Amino acid sequence: MKWLVTGGAGFIGSNFVFYLMEKYPGDQVVCVDSLTYAGNLETLESVMENPRFAFEKVDIADRKAIYALFEREKPDVVVNFAAETHVDRSVMDPGVFLRTNVLGTGVLMDACRQYGIKRYHQVSTDEVYGDLPLDRPDLFFTEETSIHTSSPYSASKASADLLVQAYHRTFGLPVSISRCSNNYGPYQFPEKLIPLMIANALSDKPLPVYGTGENVRDWLYVTDHCAAIDLIVRKGEDGSVYNIGGHNERTNLEVVKTILRALDKPESLIHFVTDRPGHDRRYAIDPAKIHRELGWLPTTAFDRGMEKTIRWYLDHRTWWEHIISGDYQNYYEKMYGNR
Ligand code: NAD
Ligand code: TYD
Repeated sequence: MKWLVTGGAGFIGSNFVFYLMEKYPGDQVVCVDSLTYAGNLETLESVMENPRFAFEKVDIADRKAIYALFEREKPDVVVNFAAETHVDRSVMDPGVFLRTNVLGTGVLMDACRQYGIKRYHQVSTDEVYGDLPLDRPDLFFTEETSIHTSSPYSASKASADLLVQAYHRTFGLPVSISRCSNNYGPYQFPEKLIPLMIANALSDKPLPVYGTGENVRDWLYVTDHCAAIDLIVRKGEDGSVYNIGGHNERTNLEVVKTILRALDKPESLIHFVTDRPGHDRRYAIDPAKIHRELGWLPTTAFDRGMEKTIRWYLDHRTWWEHIISGDYQNYYEKMYGNR
């Protein structure tokens, strides 16, 4: 089977590439990535020379280049991870989120229609459901929860989901959609909560916690997400949406304190800063459908996953130090300078 994985030079996409290369020694993987600030070829170093792997620097919104690629490669399956993914950046500059996340998704599906495909899989997010109140721990997002977005990021992801469902209904395109909770693990860009806090703590820099730190996220180790996507692509019902999550809710403050404890750093590094505009309070996934229909369950408990993740960032300092030494400095100053 030939997989086309978009956004494979980013966090989850690269982990998915590694997952496929290891699990299916007979399969080929074509990785498409335009290498934005979030894409990093160093991440893919270990597979770059593998004859079963090919890297193509292409923008998913570039129709001509995407069509030429499909014509040449004729993939069996497309898994679309490529996206602008950071909520804070979507508050600063929504335009690029619409271009990549909505128009890019449309271009990929048009190419699938034109050249034929066994399955198009859209990697979506639980953020399309909006948020849940902090004082109702009995409430969870199911696949039936209505779309109710808060940020330009989540709105663009929800728009893409609607487009994917429309292409299924109108054109009969074989599709599936997964909506996962927050991921953590190796190769996550250090602008997101967990790697940012690890990097700052290791440099004895302040840890900027938004608002009161009481917002809740539902954390899933990245390999569990990859296994779920693989299952959905191979066994999931055509046209269906699957939520992915492992009932791992933590307040941001709990996460930050876990990191400080593991690195033996003082809690005085925590700095409460101005809240994110429109900040979603709580995400919590009900994963009953994917468990019932496909037998998926997460295998990495939060404590073990955090241990592995922190170890990885300790062992791969050059990977993230390269990133935070470049353009990232300008972003950091702009985002946190006056907060
Ligand atoms: P990431 O920001 O680490 O990686 C995104 C990748 O997409 C980068 O390599 C980037 O270069 C590439 N890209 C961006 N625009 C592109 C374009 N126009 N053409 C081609 N490539 C482009 O993101 P991530 O955290 O790995 O997220 C991957 C996917 O999973 C996204 O669709 C995101 O919405 C979804 N998701 C993420 C999480 C999470 O917690 N990180 C949770 C649920 C869903
Ligand atoms: P993030 O990793 O950006 O993921 P998302 O907003 O998509 O869930 O943020 C996770 C949580 O951490 C979110 O509630 C915002 C909070 N946060 C901080 O408190 N400080 C930070 O510097 C960052 C990046 C996030």
